[in-house]
Amino acid sequence: MRDNWIAILDFGSQYTHLIARRIRECGVYSEILPYNIKPAKLMSLKPKAIILSGGPASVVGASGPICDSAVFAMGLPILGICYGAQLIAKVLGGKVEKAGKREYGKAILNIKAKKTIFEGLDREETVWMSHGDKIVKLPGEFKAIGATVNTAFAAVEDKNRNIYGLQFHPEVMHTPKGKKILRNFVRRIAGCKKNWNMRSFVKSSIEDIKKTVGEEKVLCALSGGVDSSVLATLLHKAIGDKLTAVFIDNGLLRKDEALLVKKRFKKSCRMNIKTVDAGDKFLKALRGVKDPERKRKIIGHVFIEVFTKEAKKLGKINFLAQGTLYPDVIESRSAFGGPSATIKTHHNVGGLPKKLKFKLIEPLKELFKDEVRLLGKELGLPNEIIYRHPFPGPGLAVRIIGVITDKKLDILREADWILIDELKRSGLYLDLWQAFCVLLPVKAVGVMGDERTYENIVAIRAVTSEDAMTAQWAKLPHEFLERVSNRIVNEVKGVNRVVYDISSKPPATIEWE
Ligand code: XMP
Repeated sequence: MRDNWIAILDFGSQYTHLIARRIRECGVYSEILPYNIKPAKLMSLKPKAIILSGGPASVVGASGPICDSAVFAMGLPILGICYGAQLIAKVLGGKVEKAGKREYGKAILNIKAKKTIFEGLDREETVWMSHGDKIVKLPGEFKAIGATVNTAFAAVEDKNRNIYGLQFHPEVMHTPKGKKILRNFVRRIAGCKKNWNMRSFVKSSIEDIKKTVGEEKVLCALSGGVDSSVLATLLHKAIGDKLTAVFIDNGLLRKDEALLVKKRFKKSCRMNIKTVDAGDKFLKALRGVKDPERKRKIIGHVFIEVFTKEAKKLGKINFLAQGTLYPDVIESRSAFGGPSATIKTHHNVGGLPKKLKFKLIEPLKELFKDEVRLLGKELGLPNEIIYRHPFPGPGLAVRIIGVITDKKLDILREADWILIDELKRSGLYLDLWQAFCVLLPVKAVGVMGDERTYENIVAIRAVTSEDAMTAQWAKLPHEFLERVSNRIVNEVKGVNRVVYDISSKPPATIEWE
């Protein structure tokens, strides 16, 4: 795979990761690198072609990021997208100016040359524009191969040097033939073979894990979520009993969750699992704590304490496997600090401190979340695990607003279970990114039979999303909400009112805390 891949230089666009995903969907491996990577380093990685991403800066004036000009002299095919296209024009001797008005949204591209990058497209195609500058003069050998009403140089090429520039964004869904354009670039122009798929990934990562680990032992934390389940299954396939997975029940899990994990991994996979019942310890540390960030910090610290103690009991283990995914890697190495500023401190189960002195292995670090799901399928995990909604590390602690008590946990567990049960019965579960109940710190008056009640309020949160960076509140049918509300009020003691959260992200977040 590593001699058949595409390098994407990141100039800070919010869409850069989509370019990588689309190319992988074409069966070709791709990675995102910082725009200022040293040319010698880039050459040593032997990509088949280079893509220059879009970005929020302007190439007009001297302030925008520029890659080393040696990148253009490597003889590799290059595709510039939006800012990347303008950069090509500027660096190779053309001219870019501020456009009179920003062009944003759908546009019709008139294609002048249906060869090379536009092979198989129609004369007119819809494309998605988002730019404030435009190319006004092409460098020497370049030709315009596509134009829109506002942009004469919407697509340009230097066929001899295999350099292409697109003013629009082929990586977004709003450019319906965008993937075909990218496929033409990576397969026809760059000559890449179609060899990136989960079967080949499983084969090569099992070989890698075996080679790295040798006869030593590996430890991993299992939470029951998709990432840690896939990670543990992959490792188990590679090294069998040399893997020990530690499952910590922090007392903040959903109903039956701990049972499910034990059943699935211990019984049916015969995995070496150490389960730790640490609920009391976590709840004691959280007693009286209201502040969400403090809750997260406490849970993170207690987790590390419990995990370290268990690890010590297991004797000498040199390796720790973590379920780091590609978006975490992009964020940590981005020249722009990554797309998501810290709004909440996320203590993921895998995030253990360096002082534990393990050698780290991170077999999923090249994968996007949807690829992890495909990998889970390839490894034979059931849909129940692969398509589970994400669940935050601090669990129900951030879904009980204010202080946490055993009683509140019981109420929330029951209410949440009813919601999920109804979603699954109605076939709605898979349409949602996440759905859960939140227990509010206020009480409301109600009437049950002839009695006045003064009880708790449960909020239902259900959202659709692509990646949790943004989310829309789900337009669940009223009849469905009515059914869930009736069941919660009737079946969960201590609740007399159910409300539905109709806030999207932004400005709200998905979790309430
Ligand atoms: P927010 O609430 O920030 O959530 O919109 C975005 C996604 O992250 C999950 N989330 C967490 N995951 N530890 C985690 O492991 C956390 O502290 C945490 N807080 C939020 C949330 O469930 C959603 O999927």
